[in-house]
Amino acid sequence: MKIIITRDYQEMSERAARLVLETVKAKPDAVLGLATGNTPLGLYRALVAAYASGKASFAKVKTFNLDDYVGLPRASRDSFWHYMQDNFFSQVDIKPEHVYLLDGTAKNLADEAANYERHILDEGGIDLQILGIGMDGHIGFCEPGASFTSRTGVVNLTKSTREVNAENLLELKQVPAQGLTMGLGTIMEAQKIVLLANGRHKAFILHKALYGPVAEEVPASILQRHPDCTVIMDAAAAGE
Ligand code: F6R
Repeated sequence: MKIIITRDYQEMSERAARLVLETVKAKPDAVLGLATGNTPLGLYRALVAAYASGKASFAKVKTFNLDDYVGLPRASRDSFWHYMQDNFFSQVDIKPEHVYLLDGTAKNLADEAANYERHILDEGGIDLQILGIGMDGHIGFCEPGASFTSRTGVVNLTKSTREVNAENLLELKQVPAQGLTMGLGTIMEAQKIVLLANGRHKAFILHKALYGPVAEEVPASILQRHPDCTVIMDAAAAGE
């Protein structure tokens, strides 16, 4: 793993944006794997700024998001679809037909998951996958205990994940109990992975994921086995 420690959140976000922009410059029709949450907000701001100043175009880029809630309509302000529209897609020249997100309201979630895997393959696989890390070591919605070979599908969310996510929920009193997520096996097939982490609260789990045993209790520890994974963390997250 390549580990980059930055001064602060801003520098973490700019370093990540640089990697994304290099990928898109080298391959204008690159396939990006994207995450939601607090961590990548600065990255999206930096990418939007690069587009606004004419330094980047996403016109040929394809994107696949990691996950979304089961049962939450896309139009809900709390859906990851909404987050992506607000923070990135609506502000750049990406084409709506190039944007893939799991639909947690699909009638047949197994079909939705299988189609998602097929679309990823049809687009040639993910060139660069952006990840954040949950307080329990989850990536995507792959919670502790998820199989390292898991594929896209429905998962139960842990109490800890639901509590953390509840802080951001605007409309719902209750965070959905399930998510639809790329599997760990799916994520590991990306050509390149960039894991981002910021803040002191991430230091403990980050240390465990990067330096502890590779074990299904800490889903992010599987990244130790990826041939091209870069971790960009701010000084606070590097505290341990
Ligand atoms: C989001 C996702 C999650 C988050 C993780 C960290 O699409 O897949 O795994 O990356 O929960 O969330 P934040 O960045 O809010 O700390």
